[in-house]
Amino acid sequence: MGTKYGLYSSYNIIKVPPPDKGVQDNPLQKASIVCTIPMSNKHPSYYHSFGMTDNYFIYVEQPLILNIWKLVIMKIMGYTFADCMEFHKDWPTRIHLCNRETSQLTEIKYIADALFLFHHVNAYEDNGHMVIDIFAYEDDLIMKRMYMKVAQDGHDLPLSRPYRFVLPLYIPKNTKVGVNLVTLDNCQATAMLREDGSVYCHHELLFDPNIIAEFPRINYDDCNGKKYRYFYSSGRDLMQLLKYDLEKRTIKAWKEDDMFGSEPVFIAKPGATKEDEGVVISSVLSGDEKKSSFLLILDGESFEEIGRAVTPAHVQNSFGGHGLFDFTIN
Ligand SMILES: [Fe+2]
Repeated sequence: MGTKYGLYSSYNIIKVPPPDKGVQDNPLQKASIVCTIPMSNKHPSYYHSFGMTDNYFIYVEQPLILNIWKLVIMKIMGYTFADCMEFHKDWPTRIHLCNRETSQLTEIKYIADALFLFHHVNAYEDNGHMVIDIFAYEDDLIMKRMYMKVAQDGHDLPLSRPYRFVLPLYIPKNTKVGVNLVTLDNCQATAMLREDGSVYCHHELLFDPNIIAEFPRINYDDCNGKKYRYFYSSGRDLMQLLKYDLEKRTIKAWKEDDMFGSEPVFIAKPGATKEDEGVVISSVLSGDEKKSSFLLILDGESFEEIGRAVTPAHVQNSFGGHGLFDFTIN
């Protein structure tokens, strides 16, 4: 994804084909724009990820903007990148859906209250609705709380919460203003038609608001863009690993004193028939000088420890947060 800033500013989703086998050319030369979303504000919004289903790209345009004028003078003024960002709590969040086949944005304009997000959990289409799960914050305070000086002063991190938005893909004729267009069973998210033709979406809080969580992960190979039941994340300032069950609305947790787990990565068991059949791994940084860091392996279903590979040193790069796993069979 990239931002084009100029007379006609936009956010663009760009397709980069894999390089041809045996050819050493630059794959970016064959890149093409597959979706263009006009910028709603004078300044570009910050983004960290986008969502995708079989038929749509999903872009959440949040009211945290990068002030271009501040950016221009940042070197002279000694601003950091974060100094150039402004959160407007009175502005709406706009959710854009782009049809992957036609590259056209939906005619329906979706808006929601101001929020801030880094990560999408998953998204899927369900009976004429788009279901979008994200980890959301009420504002951008998390950005400011991650400065070393602020962290040393011992401020708490703000809560991020698993939100579900449900967007109606169609509006029946003669729908009255104020009517909830979400017709999915057991769903508390709402979407109401407004006078101006836009649809105001209010999220459903999927789990307890006291969970501080980030780095969501799913059974990606089987469930990305599809209806799913489980996701995993770091929790409580990275001091826990969590498994969420969307059907039973329960959470399982792994925790050990002074240990900080990276983003939990789910790896399916070959030939698995259940969504959570496999293992969840996390690189765990020890906060205790006397204890070592380790690679933790949890059972995907029970979320209990199967084993750990202890390293003879503190593995600090795991504290960057995200988890990555690559498996090659030779
Ligand atoms: Fe991230």
